[in-house]
Amino acid sequence: MHKMASMHTPLLSFLFFLLLISSSTIAQTSFRPRALILAVTKDSATGQYITEFSQRTPLVPLKLTVNLGGDYLWVDCFKNYISSTYRPAICRSAVCNLAKSTSCVLDCGGPTPGCNNNTCALLPFNPYIRTSSIGEVADDVVSMQSTDGTNPGQLVSAKQVLFVCGGETLLEGLVGGVTGIVGLGKSPIGFPSQLAKAFSFPRKFAICLSSSSSSKGVIFFGESPYNFLPGQDVSQLLTYTPLLHNPVSTGGAYTTGEQSVEYFIGVKSIKVNNQIVPVNTTLFKIDKEANGGTKISSVDRYTLLETSVYDAVTNAFVNSISKVPRVNPVAPFKYCYKSASFGSTRLGPGVPPIELVLQTNGASWTIFGANSMVPVNGDVLCLGFLDAGLNPRTTIIIGAHQIEDNLIQFDIERSRIGFSSTLLGRQTNCGNFNFTSVA
Ligand SMILES: *[C@@H]1O[C@H](CO)[C@@H](O)[C@H](O)[C@H]1NC(C)=O
Ligand SMILES: *[C@@H]1O[C@H](CO)[C@@H](O)[C@H](O)[C@H]1NC(C)=O
Ligand SMILES: *[C@@H]1O[C@H](CO)[C@@H](O)[C@H](O)[C@H]1NC(C)=O
Repeated sequence: MHKMASMHTPLLSFLFFLLLISSSTIAQTSFRPRALILAVTKDSATGQYITEFSQRTPLVPLKLTVNLGGDYLWVDCFKNYISSTYRPAICRSAVCNLAKSTSCVLDCGGPTPGCNNNTCALLPFNPYIRTSSIGEVADDVVSMQSTDGTNPGQLVSAKQVLFVCGGETLLEGLVGGVTGIVGLGKSPIGFPSQLAKAFSFPRKFAICLSSSSSSKGVIFFGESPYNFLPGQDVSQLLTYTPLLHNPVSTGGAYTTGEQSVEYFIGVKSIKVNNQIVPVNTTLFKIDKEANGGTKISSVDRYTLLETSVYDAVTNAFVNSISKVPRVNPVAPFKYCYKSASFGSTRLGPGVPPIELVLQTNGASWTIFGANSMVPVNGDVLCLGFLDAGLNPRTTIIIGAHQIEDNLIQFDIERSRIGFSSTLLGRQTNCGNFNFTSVA
């Protein structure tokens, strides 16, 4: 007995030690966040929205451009990609099926991240230079901050988050230091769906872009609340409209049969100053070839309208304030005024509202001065809508300037979009999330 006891003691304390280690590991990895958060900074020179999170083992912080309508996360794998958890997707594996990849690279010349034999490939896209390149499909660890909806909380990581390798040439046109694009599109390999799968939360996220480059906007993945100082849960303010299906890809390079991963909503009519603008409403529908309709974009800086819609809306706007003298246009805008011509309101310059009447009964997305007018220098304001030409793919592209300081929830699971309208009317804005960590 004595002999056994003396043998047991060190063994027991060793076991206890193991137990301590493993329980602390479990406590760390089994914490299941209800939501995750990313801070988003506007680059004022380019109007690109930049975020940061970590990837790989050991973790490396990445700076990435946000593309609401992007297919998936892609990063440059050819410069300093070192990771013990990088896994290339083997041809015909479940990952390649999920990615709907139709190409298999048999002989690449690697093995190195971005170039392994017998791996499937996709065509990552940079919308700023409208260029795609061929890239290896892979997965790796991703680490982000969790949130209770009020502050950032502890860091959490997910294994096997799918992404695609881009090359260095695909980084052209992106802000310095950025090494890829995080695509928030609605496909199963889009970043929101990948996170939802990794953390078992609903396929849902919300984006709130700050109009100022000195205060951070925010993206929430997973469950609400979305609390902004001084204590406004914006998830309570949302109006919903159905997310529309577009049967053909509206991205860069794509294969036949690929659906659009972008976010389309149904606009029924447009009002300026509460009057319906006469337009050919057939253009608002998505036709069989996937032309027409209305989508939301973080890449297009200003709202683009098909020529006849642009003419009708801008004429209605200009005519409704015909007594206000115009000044010389400042490119790319056509209709500009002295700032002093308009009163200043909580919702920006006091100009006639532009209202997108949605297909849901009674719901409207109203664009007030802060989102319709663009300050181009100290004392000039221009109407921030652009002419997309006669036969654009999409009739209305709601651009970034028009969604700033609005929170928009993309509920992929329930196929709907919730929008807050301008938060300026609620005495807050997208720069008012409290980024003080409580981890
Ligand atoms: C990749 O495939 C080529 C052609 O089959 C082969 O010569 C090469 O050795 C392979 N590389 C690796 C790392 O397996
Ligand atoms: C309205 O637009 C559709 C789609 O471009 C076109 O086919 C139709 O002829 C237009 N109708 C009128 C009255 O211009
Ligand atoms: C932000 O959150 C921290 C942590 O909860 C809190 O101490 C601080 O007062 C908050 N800031 C404001 C302006 O409320």
